[in-house]
Amino acid sequence: MFDAINNLLDACASGRGRDSMHKTAQFLADYVAKHFGDEEALQKQYHYPHYDAHHTFHVNYKKQLREAVDVIERSGATMENLQSLTQQVNVLLNHIRREDKRVAAHVRKNS
Ligand SMILES: [Fe+2]
Repeated sequence: MFDAINNLLDACASGRGRDSMHKTAQFLADYVAKHFGDEEALQKQYHYPHYDAHHTFHVNYKKQLREAVDVIERSGATMENLQSLTQQVNVLLNHIRREDKRVAAHVRKNS
């Protein structure tokens, strides 16, 4: 995932951002769908106490990301769409840093 984001940023810096944006958005949507599913299975296995709130975030985030991919598909790789995709990536990174870290600590403590 970090590779995909770095590739997009590199592409933007060298003026190829428009070609890469849709590819990156699609990759992120696929990656997130798989990663969230794996992580939810782990949370259930370890009876993570904040599963419900975490799961709700995952459901809403997947919907938002899917909408962002659809908008890019419909209206192309505009500056506005790049900003919206970047914002989505930041929300995901914050989630990983805070919430997924709590999950990891719980799993570590209980295994
Ligand atoms: Fe998560």
